[in-house]
Amino acid sequence: MEVKNIMSKTRKVGFTETVLRDANQSLIATRLPYSKFEPILETMDKAGYYSAEVWGGATFDVCLRYLQEDPWERLRKIRAKMPNTKLQMLLRGQNILGYKHYPDDVVRKFVEHSVKNGIDIIRIFDALNDARNLEVAIDETVKQGAHASGTICFTTSPVHTLEKNVQMVKDLQKMGVKSICIKDMAGIMGPKESYDLVSAIKDAVPELPVVIHTHCTTGLAFMTCLKGVEAGADVIDTAISPMSGGTAQPATETLAYALRSFGYEVDLDDKVLIEMADFFKGVRADFIKDGTLDPISMATDTQCLNYQIPGGMLSNLISQLKMMNAIDKLDQALAETPKVRADLGYPPLVTPTSQMVGSQAVQNVLAGERYKVVGKEIKAYCRGEYGRTPAPIDPDIQKKILGNTPVVEGRFADSLAPEFEKTKKELGATAKSDEDVLSYIAFPQVAMAFFKDREAGFPKKEEPKKDAAAPAAPKASDLPPMPAWQGHVYYANVPASVSNGVTARPIQPFAASYQPPHLVLAPKDTCPGTYTITIDGKPYQISVAAADGPAPAAAAPVAAAPAPAVPVAAPAAPAPAPAPAPVPAAAPAPAAPAAGETPVPSPMPGNVFKVECKPGQAVKAGDVLVILEAMKMEIEVTAPVDGTVKSVAAAVGTAVNTDDLLVTLG
Ligand code: CO
Repeated sequence: MEVKNIMSKTRKVGFTETVLRDANQSLIATRLPYSKFEPILETMDKAGYYSAEVWGGATFDVCLRYLQEDPWERLRKIRAKMPNTKLQMLLRGQNILGYKHYPDDVVRKFVEHSVKNGIDIIRIFDALNDARNLEVAIDETVKQGAHASGTICFTTSPVHTLEKNVQMVKDLQKMGVKSICIKDMAGIMGPKESYDLVSAIKDAVPELPVVIHTHCTTGLAFMTCLKGVEAGADVIDTAISPMSGGTAQPATETLAYALRSFGYEVDLDDKVLIEMADFFKGVRADFIKDGTLDPISMATDTQCLNYQIPGGMLSNLISQLKMMNAIDKLDQALAETPKVRADLGYPPLVTPTSQMVGSQAVQNVLAGERYKVVGKEIKAYCRGEYGRTPAPIDPDIQKKILGNTPVVEGRFADSLAPEFEKTKKELGATAKSDEDVLSYIAFPQVAMAFFKDREAGFPKKEEPKKDAAAPAAPKASDLPPMPAWQGHVYYANVPASVSNGVTARPIQPFAASYQPPHLVLAPKDTCPGTYTITIDGKPYQISVAAADGPAPAAAAPVAAAPAPAVPVAAPAAPAPAPAPAPVPAAAPAPAAPAAGETPVPSPMPGNVFKVECKPGQAVKAGDVLVILEAMKMEIEVTAPVDGTVKSVAAAVGTAVNTDDLLVTLG
């Protein structure tokens, strides 16, 4: 073995600051708006970073989806405020910033416009480490005169060996990368693996700088960075201290201190770092206050050494389970994750495979049967649309998921027709720029909603709070009485009635036959109680009381009198089956499920993305009826039996809960 430049007292170590991208993504689900960090950018520009990671990853999606920000404009603004720092982004190779493969022309356009809008360094990875999926993005980055950083997604499995990683690095060098990044998205790379892997890479491609990217999740990160640097790594990813640790990167100041004490040269200005830390303490406090920064994300969790859950995936899993009122299933979902990963041929867990494996694990746990509900992306993955899996997919599971659908041979993107010009034409005046077209191609529904909002001057809208408690009982005097409105309130497990012509019925077991409109209220542990419901944008108060005995007739619709909602007395212990609720005379009768009718309920909470059937249409078992968007995945809801579509309750763009009726088959 040749002697390496270990512990050289003069060697320089560069720092990439991740606070605006990865730390933001890992700790606060990327919810940091531009306006909140703008005041610190000019200061940050003086810190002396090797680069600042400011864009890509989830920032793009979240800007459009939640922050009413044009991600391209964000990039241009950062560029203007930080002229002296290299701006870096994370790109998912052939997936650009989305979750599926895009044709080559789209990848090239995306890279071109990223560089034009201010990016200097593009870190390019493929979730499966299939180098064929990096080639086009790297080639275009080089053509645009930017720095392509070729990335290895670090993972451990029986099939991930040092030799395999070295081979990949050599392939990347041939493609023209200017540096190699070891991306340890789950924080599972220990100091020993870091030392060995960096040494092997430095032996194989001594002229390429090596960057270490890791997360503090398991508590290994500081040691991993230090040993990596000792083995020859040139750059480390860190986050300014208030936004460091937990699922994010190790602290910038801490590593600067430690490395200097060993004699490494660190070009950071400590005064600037102190200013930045003061600033981000305030930012952190705000996000703790509003519940966005979950203390779980800040903790050290060594479970990740078994589960290999990356930071972003862990916080996503927690927030998704909370939204489904199933946070008690977190342990089960965490235990299911490595099993799903093994079934699928040991993909490294990084976007999009982390979301795919994570949501599949959640679905396996919630559905009570493995691979009963399978997202469209997982189907595509099993078909080979994401590239070569590190190990073969379990053939039985592949068969269960795919049926007789054929598997893709070769590079999937080769089979995709160019999309950019065609989409540009289709969008016409809706797209104000090529960047708009790219936003739309990456996230069609989200981008379209964004364009409309932009057109309307961004009307105020509220993002649902992550941790919404049961609605506080409003003061009766503050709210108008409910109008004579007929419908049913569905909620879990406790039969009850509510006032004003609304009949409450349990969700479980699923009652097939109600007529919309209906409401879905309250998890079982928060009812009965007093609720505010909103109809046509107006809040009304209703009271829900637990039942003992057969549910009573609902109170007659209340007219204009500003009466507080009437708590409806209610009989008995929760009935195991939904007692057919008596219906006030005026209400449309919720017919009992007619013989031969098959309700198709939503398997999970989500948004209706597409409705793929029409009343009267004949369908076969397995045909797609509705596509939901849930947990960032598209979930196909299929016909359980052959039949005819009798009615479609699902409406595109609306939110649905588990067991909400989507379609009725006759
Ligand atoms: Co990361």
